[in-house]
Amino acid sequence: MNRRIITIDGPAGAGKTTVSRALARELGCVYVDTGALYRAVAFEIKYRQVNWQDSTLLEQFLAGLELDFVMQGREPVLISSGRDISAYIRTNEISMLASATSAVPQVRKALLGIQRAIAGERDAVFEGRDMGTAVFPKASYKFFLTADVNVRARRRFKESNASGISFEKILEDMVKRDRNDTQRVISPLKQAADAVLIDATELDVFQVVEKMKRIIMAI
Ligand code: DC
Repeated sequence: MNRRIITIDGPAGAGKTTVSRALARELGCVYVDTGALYRAVAFEIKYRQVNWQDSTLLEQFLAGLELDFVMQGREPVLISSGRDISAYIRTNEISMLASATSAVPQVRKALLGIQRAIAGERDAVFEGRDMGTAVFPKASYKFFLTADVNVRARRRFKESNASGISFEKILEDMVKRDRNDTQRVISPLKQAADAVLIDATELDVFQVVEKMKRIIMAI
């Protein structure tokens, strides 16, 4: 098997989604947003009112979870218990719950196999927090995309203009989420030793994608 796996990890708001999608399109590969899986778990926990801090109840919930990806063109669309929930998982509340629940070992274990199976034999760009460190340690190319937290919060604020949430709240939650994601015991957000660090504080999407492509072509 000689498929090409490209991993892009990094904190929230660094531009991973836009960059990963653009890079996948340019390289002709599948793009997979693994944060959507953690968001789906959080979404189901919220709407089924699961007491996820009780490990027995959490195990039961995870055993009954039906998460699947259906290919739509080159992008897998996440289906949870037969429904496309993508329109409901981008709220600030779900972001925070996903960050909290993703620290639980059973949740990470339940999602590991799904992530590895998604792309099948196809070339793919995987975006997340632990793609290069835990899920695909042997990936062909690894990137760690970051940016100054104020810049990241400002980007999120611009994206969320209709929701009425303040910049201060977005910044506060982003700092909290960075802390949760980097300090959890299992598969914390961190740069893999063999990942290329890209700081996008002063770069736009096009510049980041160009940098990545140059690196990929050179290896
Ligand atoms: O990338 P995102 O903002 O959609 O991710 C939401 C949360 O899911 C993030 O705060 C941490 C968790 N996550 C994770 O733990 N591992 C991943 N590979 C992707 C996301």
